[in-house]
Amino acid sequence: MNEHTKPPISISSHHLPVMFDESIQGLNIKSDGVYIDTTFGRGGHALGILAKLSKQGRLIAFDQDITAIEYAQQHFNDPRLTLIHSPFANMHQILCERGICGKINGIFMDLGVSSPQLDNAERGFSFNADGPLDMRMNQSNGMNVEQWLAAADEVEIADVIYTFGEERRSRQIARAIKRFQQQQPIKTTLQLANIVASVVRRQKNKHPATRTFQALRIFINQELEQLSSALEQTLELLAIKGRLCVISFHSIEDRIVKQFIQQHSQQKQLPKGLPVINSEIQQTPLKNLGKSFASKEEVKHNKRSRSAILRVAQRNNSNAK
Ligand SMILES: C[S@@+](CC[C@H](N)C(=O)[O-])C[C@H]1O[C@@H](n2cnc3c(N)ncnc32)[C@H](O)[C@@H]1O
Repeated sequence: MNEHTKPPISISSHHLPVMFDESIQGLNIKSDGVYIDTTFGRGGHALGILAKLSKQGRLIAFDQDITAIEYAQQHFNDPRLTLIHSPFANMHQILCERGICGKINGIFMDLGVSSPQLDNAERGFSFNADGPLDMRMNQSNGMNVEQWLAAADEVEIADVIYTFGEERRSRQIARAIKRFQQQQPIKTTLQLANIVASVVRRQKNKHPATRTFQALRIFINQELEQLSSALEQTLELLAIKGRLCVISFHSIEDRIVKQFIQQHSQQKQLPKGLPVINSEIQQTPLKNLGKSFASKEEVKHNKRSRSAILRVAQRNNSNAK
């Protein structure tokens, strides 16, 4: 561990970084390089990156949740670390203004919510603990779930729950929500969880409201738009041989990452019989370095890692998009 990096004592007990070794390995860290952690959280992965950097190395960390940035300010006293309170979809603009567009050696994304966000009932992410129905990662911006559910009609609600939660009972859930709201507004997480549980059968090991909460969280935070936009931006941000490492936690998210990497790493088929020699074929912008999952050992200790998929790609020596 680098002398600059003192592990915050609370990190391991509060938030266990998922697929830590695999992520650090995937980034293939150059000690003097410039790295971006787009999802700082409690800095578990950031700490691993800092540990591999020399005094000249730099880590720029984003988080749209101010509590993550405040945590970093209190626990990370490291001149190599720059903190930015912003959604990661703004990273291209912010990093280009700093003159490092095309000079970044690795971009890391650990998507979704952190354990502290889930565990704090006041944030409204959990169907197990009662709290205000908020679910915004960035609480200084936009509508929360309570406001949106009050404003949206039944069809809109059903569509969101179906599209982002892949919930087959979406129509019945939306109807139950609107029926409840005829009596009183839905203000808390447990009110919503109970409404969902009244129309969705409990499955083994899965709360009936799991998919509905996932859907509303993805929608209210515009998580998929953020992800698609950020992935496109990485092409211009990464230096040649720079690495992109993304951990996703559900199939909708992983599909976006997978398709992005495939689209930019697969050679377009040329018509058969064209007289083209290998050196004339333009390289694709990315090389697909594959995917991996958390080990059985990790899943035993960290339930959250059960659904994690890490995908890694490398920027090729080409500006072709
Ligand atoms: C799974 S946690 C990251 C945990 C972190 N790797 C660690 O080891 O502590 C995800 C974090 O990313 C942040 N986040 C999610 N989407 C974001 C976005 N679009 N822009 C910026 N931060 C985001 C969340 O607020 C949360 O703190």
